[in-house]
Formats: sequence, structure tokens, C-alpha cells
Amino acid sequence: MNHGYTYQSTLAASDAVHWRIEDIIGGEKRLDFSRPFMPESLARVQEISFLSDDEKKVLNQIRGNTYLCIFGLVEEFILPFVLDQARPQLQGDDYRARALLQFASEEAKHIQLFKQFRQDFRSGFGTECPVIGPPEAIASAILSHDELGVALTTLHIEWMVQSHYVDSVKDDQDLDPQFKSLLKHHWLEEVQHAKLDTLMVEAMAANRTEEEILHGVEEYLAIGGFIDGGLAQQVEFDMASLMSATGRSFNEQEKEEFRQIQRQANRWTYLGSGMTHPKVLETLESLNPKARKRVETVSIAFS
Ligand SMILES: [Fe+2]
Ligand SMILES: [Fe+2]
Repeated sequence: MNHGYTYQSTLAASDAVHWRIEDIIGGEKRLDFSRPFMPESLARVQEISFLSDDEKKVLNQIRGNTYLCIFGLVEEFILPFVLDQARPQLQGDDYRARALLQFASEEAKHIQLFKQFRQDFRSGFGTECPVIGPPEAIASAILSHDELGVALTTLHIEWMVQSHYVDSVKDDQDLDPQFKSLLKHHWLEEVQHAKLDTLMVEAMAANRTEEEILHGVEEYLAIGGFIDGGLAQQVEFDMASLMSATGRSFNEQEKEEFRQIQRQANRWTYLGSGMTHPKVLETLESLNPKARKRVETVSIAFS
């Protein structure tokens, strides 16, 4: 594929944007609970008919916390996956070894960053917001799939971060600047990861038959199905968190409306926006045009 990505240029770009956790969180740098955390295109709280403006803001913040938790979860599987990819070829291309180790190190830093933001959230929000997990169980379920399926899932996640920041967060002036800063710094490093994932996917697919490639794509979709099941559970958690934070109790009709809107909002946030990303589709097309078609067909349910 003619994308021009190399391990050397990605490593140089990563060095250029490097940041430290203490530069973006801690001390005076705290979350502002008078502002929303998530862009509306991902949160979709305005469509819920029975919530006041204040309750919508609270739900938006719950979704922000969930967003960090879900990233914390997925990065728990990306970190060992990247290390496993780096280890067998440490002696070959020095730039490859360094770029992948830096990728892993950045994901370890992101996991730690998200944990610190969650602590800040917990102390400022006032009530406990449960999330799906535990991360190790989810990571081992995902890592049990065909490695091409795992690599495609990783590619999906990294490009998804790009679209969230560039399409929805960057120009949104209402968001809490601190939360926005987190998303910006994460995005700055994820760009390089997306390129490295592309190189890894291509190398894996190079030795595969068409049938084996399409099997990897089915495994990617199976991982998506597994994540979708987790998101359905998360919507129930978010609804319970909203009721406890606002002291309200929703009737059955309200609960159903909440589920319908938030289920689809979560599907778009974590699944649809990655499956429809032009770069993900380009990579799938380069593996096999049938792979792209298959994912495009499935993605309709996650819009
Ligand atoms: Fe990350
Ligand atoms: Fe990443």
C-alpha cells in the first residue's frame, strides 16, 4: 500500500511530540465539573427527552469517565500485544524494534494517565461510577483471537482516536479544557501508533492466503461483537450512575429510551467510528477487497 509509513519516520515523529504525565495533570490542573467532558456527537445526551440540562451534563461527564475507562481497558491488551510483536524480531531492523518499544511504552504511560484522571474524576464527581472489567479478563479474551484479528482491532482503535479528536473534540469550545487536553495529548501519540499498526497488519497479511486473511477479518468482527456485549452492560452501569448522582429513579419507559439512545451512542463511539474510518477501510481493501466489503456491511449497525 502506498502510504509512505516507515518505522524510522514514525519513531522520529514520536520523539517530537513526547510529553510527560505531570505536564498535563496534577496540582492546579483539575477537571472542571461545570463543563461537559465529551463532544455531543459521541455522548448523544441531548436526544434524551426526560433529562434536564443539568442532568444531561452529568450524564455527559459519566460518559467521559467511561471513555477513559474503556481506553484503559483496551490499552491493557494493546500493550502486551505490541511487546509480543516486538520481541521475536529485536535483532532485525533497529528502527522497528525501537518504534515498537516506544509504542508499548506510550501505551503504558496512557494507562497510567487514564488512572490519574479517573482518580481526579472520582474525587470531584462525588458518587461511584462502575465500569466493565476487570481489564485483565477482557485483555485475555481479546488476545485469545487470531493475531490478525487483534491487530485489526488495534488499528481500528488508534484511527478511532484520530477521528474523535479531529472531527469532534478539537473545535468544541464548550468542553472542559483539562479533559480536552487529555484527549489532545493522547491523540498526538496515537497517530504514530495507527501508522505502526498499519505496518504490522500488512506484514502479518503478507504471508497469508485469501482464506486466512478473511478468517482474520472475521476474528476482528468477533472481537467487535465481544466489545459490543460489554458496551450493553456499560449502558446499564451508566444509567445506574446517573440515577445515583442525580437522586432520580427512571420509569420503565424512560429506561428503555435511555438504553436505545445510549446503546447506539456507545456503538458509534467505540465501534462504528473505527469501522468506517477511511484509513481502516483502505488497509482492509489493500488486504482484500472482500475484507473491506464485509466490514462496511457490518458497520451499518453501528452508526
Ligand atoms: Fe493510547
Ligand atoms: Fe495507542
